[in-house]
Amino acid sequence: MKGIILAGGAGTRLHPITLAVSKQLLPVGDKPMIYYPLSVLMLAGIREILIISTPHDLPQFRRLLGDGTHLGLAIEYRVQAEPNGLPEAFVIGADHIGDDPVALILGDNIFHGHDFYSILSRNSADIQGCVLFGYPVNDPERYGVGETDAAGNLVSLEEKPDRPRSHTAITGLYFYDNAVVDVAKNLRPSARGELEITDVNRWYLERGRARLVNLGRGFAWLDTGTPESLLQAGQYVVTLEERQGIRIACIEEVALRMGFIDRDQCHRLGAALAKSPYGRYVMAIAREGAER
Ligand code: G1P
Repeated sequence: MKGIILAGGAGTRLHPITLAVSKQLLPVGDKPMIYYPLSVLMLAGIREILIISTPHDLPQFRRLLGDGTHLGLAIEYRVQAEPNGLPEAFVIGADHIGDDPVALILGDNIFHGHDFYSILSRNSADIQGCVLFGYPVNDPERYGVGETDAAGNLVSLEEKPDRPRSHTAITGLYFYDNAVVDVAKNLRPSARGELEITDVNRWYLERGRARLVNLGRGFAWLDTGTPESLLQAGQYVVTLEERQGIRIACIEEVALRMGFIDRDQCHRLGAALAKSPYGRYVMAIAREGAER
């Protein structure tokens, strides 16, 4: 399976913070926001990853992550010239996707939860149709919303409805079979004038090919869309990291644990950042191996 991280947008709700810096490069705790979605794709076992951003911001992502070989990845970059909506990622990324299934993750989505690795590997094997991840929220009207029947089957999907039919937000992580490229190419803009990911998902739903995986209450799916929620996400990360002595979304650690790099490589990556606690953590992980 191929991976795409969509890190575009103007971040207008965070102005002036995002006037000169991409939202997905802002710090969440001790690391740039994009480390979180990148680590999710890595945990799903995905090594070929396309990062899509604005013409202005793309060079900074390249500067941060390079071609990914140091993490045992192959990272490519492509520009989204205009904010034409999320499904354009599949048109821009058609070459990258080739004949494979694809995972799309939005560059501002932060997931954290026990055994996410198992959830991801269970649901990324043999994709037929699409797999969506639902999460209970207080304010569903801000998101794509999924409604299920008594048996837990998905029955409707709406984008930012005024009157949501459930509290289940559809998170910004999506697994699709290869048909998504053609679905995206043939999509028409919604009433809001944009291509909507929810319309892609509804295409699958109407054909009985959309599956919803509920991330339960023991899970964190954090918002980063406002200055307050961005700060709260950072506090969540730092609170857990300090308490447990672990780091969330440490991409070097994920690469080591997934077997993408060995302990020597991991240690070198940490040593290059040795003046920061993050770098020293990466070195300690490399020394301890799987013991921690
Ligand atoms: C997008 C999607 C929405 C989804 C959300 C998740 O909204 O359109 O369906 O629930 O991402 O982050 P946006 O944040 O681009 O407004």
